[in-house]
Amino acid sequence: MRLVVLASGRGSNLQAIMDAIDRGDLNAEIAMVISDNPEAKALARAAGRGIATEVVAAKNFQSRQEYDRALAKLIRDIGPDYIVLAGFMRLLGPEFIKQFPNRIVNIHPSLLPAFPGLEAQRQAVEYGVKISGCTVHFVDEGMDTGPVIAQRAVPVAEDDTAETLAQRILKEEHKLLPAVLQLLGEGRVTVTGRRVKIT
Ligand code: GRF
Repeated sequence: MRLVVLASGRGSNLQAIMDAIDRGDLNAEIAMVISDNPEAKALARAAGRGIATEVVAAKNFQSRQEYDRALAKLIRDIGPDYIVLAGFMRLLGPEFIKQFPNRIVNIHPSLLPAFPGLEAQRQAVEYGVKISGCTVHFVDEGMDTGPVIAQRAVPVAEDDTAETLAQRILKEEHKLLPAVLQLLGEGRVTVTGRRVKIT
């Protein structure tokens, strides 16, 4: 299974994927890591492993559509099995999404459909939920609305801040994302409408 990973920042989920590959838990190859942010630590992590990297920066494009077209072309030329959004902070437009149906996977730090969008961990703490977690889902044209592939629950402590909860959730993200990618690689994930079955 060949992957393209899109990441805008720290890249700890990218790291978890690379580590799972190294351990032999994930049978995959990362063909390229692409970022919209030239400063992303994810790029350095990838380069350190000899993985090809590319920056597609928003400032070089007139519109969102142009950006999405350039990104789609770059990815089509690589022809990965899956595109993994690992902390990619740009919303991808419908034209992009349509080209890769059920081929784009995102990790989100809440139990969707609760707390979509930015700062999900802060939203959870402020709402006062007792359980949150993380979700790996296929990306559709909405914001964090695509079919759910897998979720892990994480307890929220009474004295949690957004940061302490984020740390606890992140540990689960690092296990869940590579595990889901392995299931995809094994062809064990089927999607019917919104419902995802793992066999
Ligand atoms: C993670 O919390 C992920 O769920 C969210 O963005 C964050 C990315 O962190 N989509 P990292 O760059 O993988 O460390």
